Amino acid sequence: MLCSGAGTTIALTLGAMDSSSSYSELVVDHTTIALLVVDERQRLHFLNSAAEMLLGVSAKKAVGLLLTEIVDIRCEMAEGLQRIMETNHPYTEREVELRLPGGEKIIVDCTLSPLLWQQQGQRTVVELQRMDQQLRLMNEEHLLNQTQASADLLRGLAHEIKNPLGGLRGAAQLLESELNDRSLREYTEVIIGEADRLQLLLDRMLGPNRPPQLRETNIHELLERVRTLVMVEAGDAPLQIQRDYDPSIPDLVADGNLLIQALLNIVRNAAQSLKNSGEIRLRTRIRRQVTIGHNHHRLVCSLEIEDNGPGISEELQKSIFLPMVTGRAEGTGLGLSIAQSIIHRHGGVIECQSNPEKTIFTLLIPLEE
Ligand SMILES: Nc1ncnc2c1ncn2[C@@H]1O[C@H](COP(=O)(O)OP(=O)(O)OP(=O)(O)O)[C@@H](O)[C@H]1O
Ligand SMILES: [Mg+2]
Repeated sequence: MLCSGAGTTIALTLGAMDSSSSYSELVVDHTTIALLVVDERQRLHFLNSAAEMLLGVSAKKAVGLLLTEIVDIRCEMAEGLQRIMETNHPYTEREVELRLPGGEKIIVDCTLSPLLWQQQGQRTVVELQRMDQQLRLMNEEHLLNQTQASADLLRGLAHEIKNPLGGLRGAAQLLESELNDRSLREYTEVIIGEADRLQLLLDRMLGPNRPPQLRETNIHELLERVRTLVMVEAGDAPLQIQRDYDPSIPDLVADGNLLIQALLNIVRNAAQSLKNSGEIRLRTRIRRQVTIGHNHHRLVCSLEIEDNGPGISEELQKSIFLPMVTGRAEGTGLGLSIAQSIIHRHGGVIECQSNPEKTIFTLLIPLEE
């Protein structure tokens, strides 16, 4: 069956009505644009996978229901649907706000096209393309380039400081061995101690210095290790770390030690923001059809670290993944930039949402088939 959509022609099959067109069915199910078909009473007749994902409802459940029973549409879209029935002309409305069943508001570009197939009454194809995601992708790319440039600069600098620092430490050690007066050794010990501290900082600035060792890794085992570590660090403080895991998530192909380092940096930040008294929630889910950078993934592991701390100011949120950006007096501002670079090395990304009630860091890591 053919329908016109956004100026093009889209091959579309409606379930069992055309079983020979499994190829077009596959195409429709692989597009990232949400496609729905409604009749003149706005009753749903078809949803592709992207529409199921966007609206959070299965086609099985939704077919037969009214569009308004699934999603709260703004009157412009409802009017558009009415108009198309009368005029038979395609119609596009930009940046339409929809409220999803869970209460989440999303911004979509919406194209309505009459279906050129009218054996069983008039049908309209509704194409929904999320625009907030496009904006997210642009921001993500900008951030990625910015983070990469700062990290490269910093790595170069760290590398240059490391060599003379080694020389200074060696000279102080030699001097120490020549000193007969024990009281003077106090000074060389300060030099050696401070050189070691700087060395550790430089090593962190240089980041992981080996290629990731990829193997099948259970994400929940890693989270449990991080949880135990942070609980131990909190000691007797009333910190709570709740778990909300989806046990059906398959193993990731990843470097477990690097992922622990990334997770630890984020969970530690959450514990620090809570001053070890509050709640952290670790949530894992599978997400489908996610675009990270320029790559589209059918299946992605989503890992959320949520805390009910004071949140991150809007100003700080803009640069939080850049190295040396910190909001803590004793912070070095390296934790999140290291975590981001580790997750990038796994083809993923870390996102952050924060308000004065809660902060959520979301790690998206592709699950390759
Ligand atoms: N969950 C959170 N809640 C509130 N603020 C946060 C949270 N996570 C990060 N931040 C803010 O982001 C800043 C940067 O974090 P990042 O981990 O990169 O560096 P840091 O914690 O300051 O130093 P370190 O290198 O020791 O980790 C923190 O200083 C803090 O102000
Ligand atoms: Mg930190």
